[in-house]
Amino acid sequence: MVGVRIDGKIIAQSVKDRVKKAVVELKNQGISPCLATVLVGDNPASATYVRNKHKACEEVGIVTKDHKLDANITQSELTKIIDELNSDNSIHGILVQLPLPKQLDEFAIISRISPLKDVDGLTPHNVGLLAMKKAALVACTPSGVMEMFNYHNIDLEGKNVALINRSNLVGKPLYHLLLEKNATVLTCHSKTKNLIELCQSADIIITAVGDRNKFTLTPEMIKEGAIVIDVAISRFQEKLVGDSNYDEIIKKASFATPVPGGVGPMTVAMLLKNTITAASLSSQIGQ
Ligand code: GUN
Repeated sequence: MVGVRIDGKIIAQSVKDRVKKAVVELKNQGISPCLATVLVGDNPASATYVRNKHKACEEVGIVTKDHKLDANITQSELTKIIDELNSDNSIHGILVQLPLPKQLDEFAIISRISPLKDVDGLTPHNVGLLAMKKAALVACTPSGVMEMFNYHNIDLEGKNVALINRSNLVGKPLYHLLLEKNATVLTCHSKTKNLIELCQSADIIITAVGDRNKFTLTPEMIKEGAIVIDVAISRFQEKLVGDSNYDEIIKKASFATPVPGGVGPMTVAMLLKNTITAASLSSQIGQ
């Protein structure tokens, strides 16, 4: 059996097409959706991610404001910039690219972002709303994964999901989103016992370890017909890889995502969607 490829590029394009239409509608109402990005320091991977986000915004007509800041910026200087972005009515979304340099308190910076402009869905306010099924702005990678299930009409009700990640950006938001769809979610991490057996009994495996020296999801670790969503991306033996080898996994899985070209493009597409949501929210509260 060879499974179905969940193609992130195609699904992301379908999201972008919808966003493009929403941008036109907002512009007709006099609102020009605008995303401000904040990049601190010169981490090359972060710089690439931010560049890709700008390019995607341009494609759909979202205006961007770019803030490239020195790696040595202080907490109070960065806080002041966030405050200025919060009070600028022409800006609808604020994205602070993570990770931040060590001298900065990441939690304090993220918490400072207005929840209405929090297009990453990472502020305590929006995380709380997600846990209570009331979120308007949800973290981009997790909502991108849910969009993939939705695109392929994959019913999550009653499914056993092995979720191999517990981060604020991926695992924890996904846990809530999957639970909302009535899945049974087992959140696994580096201290989990019997990870192989847990994977073997899962209907769906969502993996985001991102270090092949620590973990590789092999075909022996999944059951016949399982669904595999590979969120990871890392460099291994000179190549960009996920936690699994797509070409091997797809021979046993019913659906699987490749890396690259799987979840990655979804993260950017959902950021665009969140920016539109934030722009609509601003019009509703008369900003
Ligand atoms: N770093 C890695 N992924 C992300 C993301 O989705 N948002 C932000 N802000 N930083 C990241």
